[in-house]
Amino acid sequence: MIIAIDGPAASGKSTTAKLIAEKLNFIYIDTGAMYRAVALYALKNNLDISNHKNLIKIINSITIRFERINNENHIFLNNIDVTSEIRLPEITKLSSNIATKKIIRDKMVEIQRLLAINQKIIMDGRDIGTVVFPNANYKFFLTASIETRALRRLNEQLTKGIVSNLEDIKNDLIWRDKNDSEREFSPLIKAEDAIEVDTSNMTIEEQVKYILKVLQGDIA
Ligand code: DC
Repeated sequence: MIIAIDGPAASGKSTTAKLIAEKLNFIYIDTGAMYRAVALYALKNNLDISNHKNLIKIINSITIRFERINNENHIFLNNIDVTSEIRLPEITKLSSNIATKKIIRDKMVEIQRLLAINQKIIMDGRDIGTVVFPNANYKFFLTASIETRALRRLNEQLTKGIVSNLEDIKNDLIWRDKNDSEREFSPLIKAEDAIEVDTSNMTIEEQVKYILKVLQGDIA
């Protein structure tokens, strides 16, 4: 049983997916965290990602796994917990760039499919409904206006004690939308059969409620 949730950055995918997973007792996989972990590896090892040899080196040197610790998903890169480190701003940009590389995507998709074998999975990302699981049982495509997404990111960072500027956040999101949607391989795009949910004027509770209704067959 697979539920795919795709959409641009800060559209509410991960918060929604996490809550649905808890309610339905599904395993939640954040695939963005995987691309972030690969970016962290490249950065830490000073590997220029425009050099194809380095990309081969990366895919042959990394292991990525998830572990549930105190009710939170943690991601391990080569057995080291990198859950917090992958959220650094320099990793955000590099992860979007590294995600344009086919050889990296192929490796991530392989891991993602293995994770789903015999599991009830809710997976969020950019290409889950289009490429990773084109036959997913349910597909959602979450969107929200750039203003809403930037404000959400700003508030999220404030709760973490990070002071940011709304305009900078907005520009970063616009850059990432473009980079993720215009790439050659598996671009961010709504699967034809995905249900689009515009969350601009929805609270998290409303998003979760809406998706649960669809899953229960209350909304076609
Ligand atoms: O979901 P996120 O913002 O943490 O993802 C970081 C980057 O990883 C995002 O800019 C694009 C890339 N990504 C991807 O290409 N495919 C996915 N399935 C998930 C993320």
